[in-house]
Amino acid sequence: MFVFVMVALLICTEAPGSSAVTPVFVQTGQDVFLDVNEADVPEGFFYFLWRFNGKNYLLSVSPNSKPNILGDYTGRIELSEKKYSVTLKNLQNTDSGVYTAQVTANVDKTLAEYKVTVQDPVSPVGLTVDSVSPSSDSCNLTVTCSSVDSHISSTFTCDDTTCSQEGGERSEVTKSGASLQVYHLSNASIICNHSNQVSWTQDMTKNIWVFCPLRCVAGAESHTSVCVVKTVVFSVGLVIMVSAVITVHLMEKIKKKNKAKKNEQ
Ligand SMILES: *[C@@H]1O[C@H](CO)[C@@H](O)[C@H](O)[C@H]1NC(C)=O
Ligand SMILES: *[C@@H]1O[C@H](CO)[C@@H](O)[C@H](O)[C@H]1NC(C)=O
Ligand SMILES: *[C@@H]1O[C@H](CO)[C@@H](O)[C@H](O)[C@H]1NC(C)=O
Repeated sequence: MFVFVMVALLICTEAPGSSAVTPVFVQTGQDVFLDVNEADVPEGFFYFLWRFNGKNYLLSVSPNSKPNILGDYTGRIELSEKKYSVTLKNLQNTDSGVYTAQVTANVDKTLAEYKVTVQDPVSPVGLTVDSVSPSSDSCNLTVTCSSVDSHISSTFTCDDTTCSQEGGERSEVTKSGASLQVYHLSNASIICNHSNQVSWTQDMTKNIWVFCPLRCVAGAESHTSVCVVKTVVFSVGLVIMVSAVITVHLMEKIKKKNKAKKNEQ
């Protein structure tokens, strides 16, 4: 375990020096921390810069001077205790792009690179049951999950004990790049999940058996009558069977007694 953690740390701390781009997802209006490892900044450098999409400058640092926040970024950047790391505040969609920390020394060097994607939280979803077609031994249930810009339908087929989803779990990428998924849980609730990298919303149906009255289970309260009938039939059957067994047993005993009496005589 410890060795594994050490290896993971090594991999993580080596990545920024090798100019690998780190993807980061941020919700609109929130902040992002852009980290630079101070030890990577070479001694005797000329200047250090944070750049956006290779054009705009956020911040410059010269040796022995305070960091200097540039242009439009005044009031939007918070400096950190770590001299070259910054927090960019209140991100908007236009802030999506690549942020690069560069240092100019004998040779130019990229110290860290982040690909920031700013996303709005996903909209709420609604899950509706469109149709239920029960037969004596199975039941088909079709649901539709809708968000503002997209919808997805799925059919479930249930027998007495299990439900299966036609074509497996359904999912779709919406116009805004989020994902809409419909699937069922082991307790037979159907879920619709609308998610992107920064948020998710969901809606859920009641237990499928509420709509498909095939089984007597907790949660199927609206079909108690069916359950009562099933239970009564089952109980009566059981009583008859038990009575039959007892009767046979008793008759056997009486026969034996009679035989014994005859032998005594
Ligand atoms: C449920 O759907 C399946 C496949 O579409 C079909 O074969 C079956 O007859 C349907 N059952 C009912 C009760 O509608
Ligand atoms: C919805 O999907 C997101 C992303 O895949 C996941 O983190 C979240 O747990 C899911 N929610 C539910 C209720 O399954
Ligand atoms: C099914 O399970 C989920 C969590 O696993 C729970 O939130 C939900 O209330 C359950 N639904 C029913 C009908 O029991």
